[in-house]
Amino acid sequence: MLSKRSLVGVRLNFHTLAVLFFMLIGTQAFAVDPEVDGSDEAVAAGKAVFNANCKTCHQLDSKLVGPALRGVSDRREISWIKAFIKNSTVLIASGDKQANEIYDEYNLQMPQHEFLSDDELNNLISYIEYGDVADPAAEAAAAGADGAAASGAGGGIPDEYLTVILVVLVVVLLLILVVLGLIISVLSKYLNKQELDEDDKEFVSQKFNLGKIIKSDGFVLIVTALVVALVAKTALDGLFSVGVQQGYAPKQPIAYSHALHAGTLEIECQYCHTGVEIGRSANIPSPNICMNCHTHVQNVQGKEGVSPEIQKIYDAVDNNKPIEWVRVHNLPDLAYFNHSQHVVVGEIECQTCHGPIQEMEVVGQHSALTMGWCIDCHRETEITTKGNAYYDKLVQIHTDSKDALKVKDIGGLECAKCHY
Ligand code: HEC
Ligand code: HEC
Ligand code: HEC
Ligand code: HEC
Ligand code: HEC
Ligand code: HEC
Repeated sequence: MLSKRSLVGVRLNFHTLAVLFFMLIGTQAFAVDPEVDGSDEAVAAGKAVFNANCKTCHQLDSKLVGPALRGVSDRREISWIKAFIKNSTVLIASGDKQANEIYDEYNLQMPQHEFLSDDELNNLISYIEYGDVADPAAEAAAAGADGAAASGAGGGIPDEYLTVILVVLVVVLLLILVVLGLIISVLSKYLNKQELDEDDKEFVSQKFNLGKIIKSDGFVLIVTALVVALVAKTALDGLFSVGVQQGYAPKQPIAYSHALHAGTLEIECQYCHTGVEIGRSANIPSPNICMNCHTHVQNVQGKEGVSPEIQKIYDAVDNNKPIEWVRVHNLPDLAYFNHSQHVVVGEIECQTCHGPIQEMEVVGQHSALTMGWCIDCHRETEITTKGNAYYDKLVQIHTDSKDALKVKDIGGLECAKCHY
């Protein structure tokens, strides 16, 4: 029989357990404003606002130009987040400690979003905390691992791990099948030696039937699930790279080869791309530049007659028509990029951005050409200051602070430098 006291004890314990349980599964619900409800509608509306205003710089679960955002309501007050999104400049200028800390870390001011209404901000935060969770495992990790989320490292499993986990699961499943098969065969051998009645004997000596397994519902289900998972993953990867043309290598109207001209023949890039040192655009050479050599060179060594590919150059010159090269690299109009600034002042090799062009038969886009790509390099690259009086004063300031002078320190992260 239980005494009254121990009954209370039991109830208390149950109560504590229940609270612990809800805290565990509901950490986010406790941290987040009641306004930020995480309902499907709010998350969907928030996603639209996010894609229109924030996607260039933020991802939910990993760092891009700005920090990963999921879990931000664990580390900050909701009112702070709203103020920061609306106008971080004001918050930073007001001397707010958190705002200044994160600004010092990233050294890049976020644009203001005064136009967002309070509802839109709530939806945004709903999306940031509850949106686009990759899979239930990641959701559990995000909800459970409060500590990890608070340190900014939590949430989401990186893509490559997902693939590994998938492969490991398949291997484990196969191993289990093999072991089960072995157990069955050992058991039936053993049972066959026992005295059994007819029914049991028949059952035991049933043959292992592969065809039957393949046709079984369970097997079909497993295979379908695997295929669906794979297709979904491919589709997602595709979506994330919309607008990024990395690897784009279109067929050109003339089979002109950089591997031959810039590689084997060692013609300088500047011989044809005359703009790189003087201005913004590198320039694609006109047929006249090709003709400097191809008036004489009509075919590759050892071949007779005029090469059909080189004939195309002659046709272009005779008809005074430009060769319609297909453009490979193409920044959107809103971004400003200048070759001479990087090649002459920055002393950066063409290959750093364009890859091993001198080995390419057909030119392909080597780098992502996203804003994150530009910014990353500006954060990390030290500028060459030797023999440039313009930088002397800046260098002095920085030698005092013992930091090397990076592109970011001369304004390489300012919006207006790349956007007009
Ligand atoms: C041009 C790039 C850019 C855009 C666009 C941008 N952000 Fe940011 N964001 C940053 C950077 C960089 C930081 C780091 C703080 C700093 O340097 O000011 C940041 C910080 C933040 C923080 C603080 C994170 C923390 O851990 O404290 C929040 C929240 C945030 N951004 C939300 C948003 C939202 C929501 C939008 C869209 C409405 C948005 N940002 C658009 C670049 C951007
Ligand atoms: C003999 C002339 C010639 C030389 C030398 C040459 N190129 Fe080119 N380059 C061209 C032509 C023609 C095209 C356009 C056709 C194409 O894309 O293959 C081109 C295209 C390119 C493109 C792609 C342009 C676009 O459409 O976005 C890049 C990048 C490039 N060259 C870089 C280089 C680099 C780097 C070197 C030196 C290692 C070099 N080129 C040497 C003639 C030349
Ligand atoms: C500095 C001299 C020089 C310039 C400039 C030059 N080429 Fe060539 N090109 C050559 C030589 C030499 C060969 C033959 C290499 C061999 O014998 O293997 C050649 C071969 C070629 C071939 C290969 C023909 C075939 O049948 O395989 C093509 C196509 C070609 N060039 C196109 C161009 C185009 C287009 C331009 C201008 C953008 C150009 N070249 C500029 C020297 C030049
Ligand atoms: C810091 C990175 C960087 C370096 C270094 C660089 N490029 Fe580029 N290049 C770009 C970008 C970005 C574009 C796309 C520009 C655009 O679309 O406005 C481009 C475009 C081009 C094009 C296409 C025509 C044009 O001007 O838009 C050619 C050709 C080219 N580069 C050749 C070169 C050569 C040759 C060198 C070396 C002498 C070089 N690049 C060095 C980043 C670079
Ligand atoms: C491989 C590294 C690298 C990449 C990638 C790169 N840059 Fe730069 N950028 C530099 C360096 C180095 C300088 C400094 C040159 C100097 O000393 O003034 C610079 C300077 C600049 C400046 C002048 C900044 C100032 O304050 O004077 C602009 C604008 C710029 N880059 C735009 C871009 C854009 C747009 C992209 C992407 C399409 C880009 N850069 C990609 C290295 C890079
Ligand atoms: C070093 C150069 C550079 C700096 C600095 C830079 N951007 Fe960008 N930005 C780019 C490039 C390049 C693109 C185009 C990228 C693409 O097409 O993926 C871009 C794209 C964008 C877009 C996306 C437009 C669209 O159609 O998706 C926005 C918005 C933007 N930048 C805002 C900003 C703001 C705000 C700042 C200042 C905090 C800033 N950028 C600083 C280079 C830069």
